[in-house]
Order: sequence, then structure tokens, then C-alpha cells
Amino acid sequence: MDEFFTQLRDDHSDFYKGSLDDRVKSSDPMLLFQKWYKEAYEKNCAEPHKMVVSTIGSDGRPSSRIVYIKEVLEEGFVFYTNYDSQKGKEIAAYPEVSLLFYWDCLERQVRIQGKAEMAPGELSDDYFASRPRGSQIGAWASKQSEVISSREELDLAYLEIERRFEGQTIPRPPFWGGYLIRPTYFEFWQGRPSRLHDRICFERAQANTWTVTRKNP
Ligand SMILES: Cc1cc2nc3c(=O)[nH]c(=O)nc-3n(C[C@H](O)[C@H](O)[C@H](O)COP(=O)(O)O)c2cc1C
Repeated sequence: MDEFFTQLRDDHSDFYKGSLDDRVKSSDPMLLFQKWYKEAYEKNCAEPHKMVVSTIGSDGRPSSRIVYIKEVLEEGFVFYTNYDSQKGKEIAAYPEVSLLFYWDCLERQVRIQGKAEMAPGELSDDYFASRPRGSQIGAWASKQSEVISSREELDLAYLEIERRFEGQTIPRPPFWGGYLIRPTYFEFWQGRPSRLHDRICFERAQANTWTVTRKNP
């Protein structure tokens, strides 16, 4: 094998940046998430709001992509996208999704499962209105996830929308907005030395009660 890949395989670097004490089991998982999220900003982790969203297609095949999380509400997580995109269609048919955060600089991973629903229209309106004009035009111009013949087709679509809304406030496209994911499962993972990582899991039992377990690493 190429020496570079051999070195990668033999990388036995250790984790040492923190631990998850058993006392954390009495936490509210949403508050614990907020604490970790804040710490990721405080420690200047790269783009802490990046997360992987995985959806399931009608053929049972999972699909993952990165999006930016835009709100962490008491009831869940919000990201914005095109409702007619691949993920949008998959969520419409099967709203169970998985979210994944990885904060390298803290050696922390959070796995979340939950149900996605369209975010309230006013929330999406407010966020859309706050975006730069170019991004607003882009949201109208892109038929996200559809095949196009060339880059030129996209650039022309952008120019057409730019002309259409010249001198006007750009409204939110009806096919664009937020998804709110209400979590039903959290796993907080903290890297530890010798691969003896900490994993504390919260499974939603009833309305606001959670069954909490520690898993082997
Ligand atoms: C760093 C980063 C951030 C992204 N943020 C978003 C986002 O907030 N919303 C979005 O729709 N796509 C975002 N994308 C693009 C998605 O990864 C993806 O290409 C797009 O949403 C189409 O996905 P789909 O065809 O599976 O629906 C982002 C990509 C990267 C690399």
C-alpha cells in the first residue's frame, strides 16, 4: 500500500480533551447539546453549525449531506433548504432523519435521531428576509437536486430571477424554507484515551422523559 495510506492506518493518536461523567445522565439532553454547541463556538471549532443530515429514500437507501443548522430551539433543530430537493422529497415521504455533529477541536460527536416537519412559515420568512440578496435570488434560481444541462442554464436562471425582482423585495419561494427536527434520541460521544470513549445516550420515553444509558465505546 502507498506509504501515505499506511501512515493513516497506523495513526494511533489518542483523545484527551474531556470526559463524560455518569452524573451527566441527569441532564436534559437539549440543554447538554446547547452547552456543547456553545463550547464549540468558544473553542473556535471550525464551523460548529455544520451538521450531516441523513434521510431515507423510497428504495430504503440512506443519503447524507451537510447543511447549516440555523436555530437550536427548545423543541428542536432547524435548517433551511429547498422542499423539492432530494432531501425534501425524502422527508415528505419518510420524516425520520438522523443528524450528526462532529466537533474535531473538542473530540466530540453528537448523534441525533428525530422527526422532521416543516418549520412555521413566519420563521422561514424571517430567515429568508435576513439573507443576502444574492442568496435569495439563488434560492429562486436553483431547482435544487434536479439535473441541468449546463452551468450556463443555472447562470441564466439567476439573471432571469434578478430581472424579475429588480427594485423589489424578494419574497420567500413557496418551495423553500426550514425543517424543524424534534429529537427522539441523542448520543453524546467524548473521545477518551485508549479508545475508551464515553458515550451517553438519551432515548425519549414519553413527552419529556428520557431513558439514559451509557454504551460501550
Ligand atoms: C458546508 C456546507 C453547508 C451547506 N449548507 C446547506 C444548507 O444549509 N442548506 C442546503 O439546502 N444545502 C446546504 N449545503 C448543500 C448540501 O450539502 C446539498 O448539496 C444540497 O442541499 C442538496 O442535497 P440533496 O440533493 O440531498 O437534497 C451545504 C453544503 C456544505 C458543504
